Amino acid sequence: MSAPMSAPSIVPRCPDRVSRRPHRPCIRVGFSVKGEPDTPSREELGWRCPPGLPPKAWSTRFHVLADMIASTDAFASSSSSSKVVADLGCGHGMLALGLAASGRVSRAIAIDVSPDEIEVANAKAARANEAVAELLGATSPLPVDVRLGDGARALVPEDAADVVCVAGVGGRTMIKMLKAAGLDKPKPTGVRTDGGADGGADGGADACAGVTALVLNPPATDVPSVRAWLIETNAWIVRDERLVVENEQMHAMVAATRRDVSDLLEAPVPAASDAPVRVVEREPAHDADDDARWGGDGSCAGGGGEFAVVADVHVGPVLRVVKPKILGLYLRNRVEYFENRRRGALDELRRCQEAEARSPAVECSLALSSEDEDAASFLVEARARRRRAQAEVTRLSKIVGVMSTVLGEVNMKALEEAGLGGTLDLPQAR
Ligand SMILES: C[S@@+](CC[C@H](N)C(=O)[O-])C[C@H]1O[C@@H](n2cnc3c(N)ncnc32)[C@H](O)[C@@H]1O
Repeated sequence: MSAPMSAPSIVPRCPDRVSRRPHRPCIRVGFSVKGEPDTPSREELGWRCPPGLPPKAWSTRFHVLADMIASTDAFASSSSSSKVVADLGCGHGMLALGLAASGRVSRAIAIDVSPDEIEVANAKAARANEAVAELLGATSPLPVDVRLGDGARALVPEDAADVVCVAGVGGRTMIKMLKAAGLDKPKPTGVRTDGGADGGADGGADACAGVTALVLNPPATDVPSVRAWLIETNAWIVRDERLVVENEQMHAMVAATRRDVSDLLEAPVPAASDAPVRVVEREPAHDADDDARWGGDGSCAGGGGEFAVVADVHVGPVLRVVKPKILGLYLRNRVEYFENRRRGALDELRRCQEAEARSPAVECSLALSSEDEDAASFLVEARARRRRAQAEVTRLSKIVGVMSTVLGEVNMKALEEAGLGGTLDLPQAR
């Protein structure tokens, strides 16, 4: 990752105001980052907006995705002149157009299930082709195929796709698309990529038999489940993970290399230490509004009540090695926030202990079987409150502990030297 262009300022925000553009993959971080601390400049990446198209349509997210695609083993270490990427759920087709215009792929296939999106993608491809012809006098169009279809079903084995990209699609849909394409299995040996049976009937599994890399950009909140799925299939090794902050939103991307079925016999199953660290922060759901505020769908039964997911920090093995600055900022924010809450929980525990000690049942040395029912029930309630407070302190201590460990791996000194320090006005502990 490159040096920042300018130091970011960090502004606290209400969680429900963070997703200004809900259709873009984003993570609710409870604060916004102004500036793009972890994002290479366009010049540094060497990618440009496809010709003939408005530069604004070519986002930094596309830059980084394009860079990740070009950096996969399938392309970066291949001497083959055939480098084919399939973008499933391409929307307006910008990524495929950008890749084709950059010359770093030999062909980009842009597929979307929506006729409206495909119409726009075709119009953009036509404009880019006109601009290429005008600017460069090129007679052959950009090597982009725009296709209407359901994921990899629109591919055929003759396409010989090497890399599949899925961006801006929810985690569940993404996994469904990948499974339908047979991408939940290692690469079969002796795959023919030069033709064969039509891939349409089986969801594109034949057409994807030669795929060796995936580049995925689910909504940041779905990255944990997508990453876990990649690891669980035993078919993929996570090679690259990047975080980008753009328009005050955090985007997360994961690239993986496909294992070959023949290496599986010898290659060990990834060690537990390679597995991602997961911290799921949950807290009791207070009311429907609160649930909605935090996304609602994260609620689950446990510990005697409904819980809403407050945040789901998932630090994958690659991010832990790369230690991007935005991860440091995010973790520092959360460590401080949960440390404040832990202090609040400790105060509550002290109050509960005092109340328990002052209980009339204790003071009068009455047993719970005492005839003084009021005193006995006061003591039962005080004990239950103290146990809940104790459980809360334990829970918050665990979160702070794991987050601090990961934060310790991020070089905060380098971060501050780069002007990325700064203090956060944290939300108040409740
Ligand atoms: C939010 S857009 C993302 C567009 C683009 N990939 C990006 O990252 O900006 C998601 C797109 O996925 C498409 N999509 C969803 N399910 C699909 C499927 N099964 N096959 C093809 N496209 C699909 C939708 O039509 C939509 O255009």
